[in-house]
Amino acid sequence: MTLTAWVNGRFLPLAEACVNVEDRGFQFADGVYEVLVCFAGVFVDLEAHLSRLQHSCDTLAIPFPLPAEEMKAVLHEAYSRNPFDHAMVYIQITRGVAPRAHRIDTIPKPTMVITVRELPEPSVQQVTHGATAITRPDIRWKRCDIKSIALLANVMGKQEAAQLGADECFWQDERESILEGCSSNALALINGTLVTHPLDHQVLGGIARSMILRLAAEHDIPVEERAWRLDENGLSECMMCSTTDAVMPVCHINGHAVCDGKPGPVSMMLRQAMLDEFNALRQTRQEIAS
Ligand code: PDD
Repeated sequence: MTLTAWVNGRFLPLAEACVNVEDRGFQFADGVYEVLVCFAGVFVDLEAHLSRLQHSCDTLAIPFPLPAEEMKAVLHEAYSRNPFDHAMVYIQITRGVAPRAHRIDTIPKPTMVITVRELPEPSVQQVTHGATAITRPDIRWKRCDIKSIALLANVMGKQEAAQLGADECFWQDERESILEGCSSNALALINGTLVTHPLDHQVLGGIARSMILRLAAEHDIPVEERAWRLDENGLSECMMCSTTDAVMPVCHINGHAVCDGKPGPVSMMLRQAMLDEFNALRQTRQEIAS
C-alpha cells in the first residue's frame, strides 16, 4: 500500500509530503501531537484525543487548525486512504512558518500533518514474559501535561533503555517517585490497590491511563492517584500503558524482578479487559456495516 499523508489540506503520497524548513516545529519544536489507534475504521477514544489536542494547542496559544467536525472528517478520510486493520494515526500541529525568531510577533497559519501507519504488534516476549524498564531522574521540562513534540529527553531515555536491553525508561522525581515512562504512563498494584501518579505538570494525561482506571474500578479494584515508589511494601505488580501498547506488565526494573518476575494477574486481567473493549468496538462497526 502506498502510504498517503495529509499536509495542510492536501492528501499526497507520504514520500512527497514535506513542510517548510522555516516551520517553527522544525526550528523550535514549537508544536504538539497526538497518536491514536483505529481498528477496522473505528477510532478509539477519538473525542478524548481531540480534546487533549485542543488543550495542548490552547495552552501554547496555537490556533486549532480545523473545526472539530472537519478534523474528524479528515481523520476518517486519512484512515480510508490507508486502511490498515490495525492502524496508528499521527497528528502533528505546529505554530507554522515564520522567519526564525524566538518571539512570536505574528500569528502564522498552523501547520498540520496527519500520517497513518500499521500499528506494530507488541512483541510476544513482552506479552508472555512482561516488559522491562530502567529508572532515571526526570530531565524533562516542567509541562509534561502538554503533548509537545519536544521529545529529546524522551528519546534519550528510550535509547538508554534500549542499549541496556530494556523496553522503557521510567522517570523519577527527586524523591524517587515514579512519574511515567518516555512514551507511557506507569502504574503499580500496591496492597491490592492500583496506584498511579496524579495528573499534574509532571505527567501526560494518558488516554489509556483513563481507560485502565475506569476498567479497574469496573472490576472492583480500588484505584488511588498518588505518588508511589518502587520500594513500597506490598508492591506486587508494575505496568505501563499507552494508546499504542494498551497495558503491559513490567516485570523487571533496573535488572531486578518485580515480585516473582512474571506478569501478574491484575495486569493480565486489565490487558484482556482493554483488548475486549477494542474487539467490541470492531464488532459494533462490523454489525453496522453488514
Ligand atoms: N505516547 N506519557 C508519555 C510521555 C507519552 O508519550 C505517552 C504516549 C503516554 C500515554 O498516553 P496515551 O495513553 O494517551 O497514549 C504517557 C505516544 C504513544 C507516543 O509518543 O508515541
